[in-house]
Amino acid sequence: MPYPATRLRRSRRHAWSRALVAETRLTPADLIWPLFVIEGKDAREPVASLPGVERLSVDLAAQAAKDARDLGIPAVALFPNTPAHLRDATGREALNPDNLMCRAVKAIKDAAPEIGVITDVALDPYTSHGHDGLLGPDGDIANDATVAVLVEQALLQARAGADVIAPSDMMDGRIAAIRAALEADDRPNVQIMSYAAKYASAFYGPFRDAVGSGGLLKGDKRTYQMDPANTQEALREVAEDLAEGADSVIVKPGLPYLDIVRRVQEAFAVPVFVYQVSGEYAMLSRAAEAGAFPLEAAMLETLLAFKRAGASGVWTYFARDAARLLG
Ligand code: PBG
Repeated sequence: MPYPATRLRRSRRHAWSRALVAETRLTPADLIWPLFVIEGKDAREPVASLPGVERLSVDLAAQAAKDARDLGIPAVALFPNTPAHLRDATGREALNPDNLMCRAVKAIKDAAPEIGVITDVALDPYTSHGHDGLLGPDGDIANDATVAVLVEQALLQARAGADVIAPSDMMDGRIAAIRAALEADDRPNVQIMSYAAKYASAFYGPFRDAVGSGGLLKGDKRTYQMDPANTQEALREVAEDLAEGADSVIVKPGLPYLDIVRRVQEAFAVPVFVYQVSGEYAMLSRAAEAGAFPLEAAMLETLLAFKRAGASGVWTYFARDAARLLG
C-alpha cells in the first residue's frame, strides 16, 4: 500500500479539530482548593516548602473563598495550623466548638454561602505527637477510642456549617460512626467525602510543615495509612467506606496512584476524587523554578491526567492558578 489507510494526525492538525475530538476536559468545576488557616487578622505566612502557598487568617481565608467562588471553583477544604500551646496528647482543641477550624467554616459560609466547605477530620493538627489519633499504652494508635473523638470533631464541624466532612485519619469504622452521629444530630444532608485509599506516603512532608505537625511527628503513620505496595486493599477500603455511608471517596496521593484511581472508578459507580498532595505540588513548582519545564503547562497536564484516569475532581494547591488559566 503506497499510503497509510489511517492518518490519526489528520484530526490533530488544527486546534478546532483537537477540541472536537478531546475525550477529557478540565474546568474550574473539577477543582477543590485546600486552604491553611492561622490565628490573627489580615495575616498571611508563606509555607517555605510550598512555594506560592500561604497560611491565611480567618478573614483572609474568607476572602480567598470568595475569589475561589468567583473563579468557578466549587469547594474549598480547610486545614488549621493550631497554635503550639493548644496542642496536647489527646488533641483536645479539636473538640473546642470555637476552634480555628469552626471559626473559619462560619466566616466562609457567611462570606460566600455558595461555595462548598469541606472540613478535615483527624487529630494531627491538634496533637503534640503529630499523629491522626490517640496514642494507646502500647504506642500504637488506638482505633476505637480515636473514632469516638473523631465523631465529636465531625459533629462540631457540621454544626459550624461544614457542607462536607472529610475524614483523613484512616481509622477503621469511622465513616459508619460519623454517619450515624450526623443522622442522630438531625443533619442527614451533610456529605461525607472519605479519604478511603490514603497511602503512607513520603509526599506529605510539606503539608505537615504547613499545619505545623511535621516537627512533632513521632515515628510514621504506617499502622493506619495504606502500604504503597497494595491495590486490592484499596478496593476493600473503598467498599467499606461506601457501605458505611460515604458519598464519595478520595485516592491520595495523586500522580503515583493513577492506577488506583482508575481501578476504583471502574469498580464502583461513585464520585472518586484524587488529592494532588503537597509533595507533588512542591515537586512541580521546584522543577519549574529550576527551568525543567513551564509550570503552567505541567500543572494543567497533571490535572487533566487525573480526569483521564477517571477522577470526578481534584484536590490541588494549584486550584486558583489553574482556574485562572482555564477561566
Ligand atoms: C493528615 C493529613 C495529611 C494530609 C491531609 N491530611 C498528612 C498526613 O497524613 O500526614 C496530606 C495532604 C498533603 O500532603 O497535601 N490527616
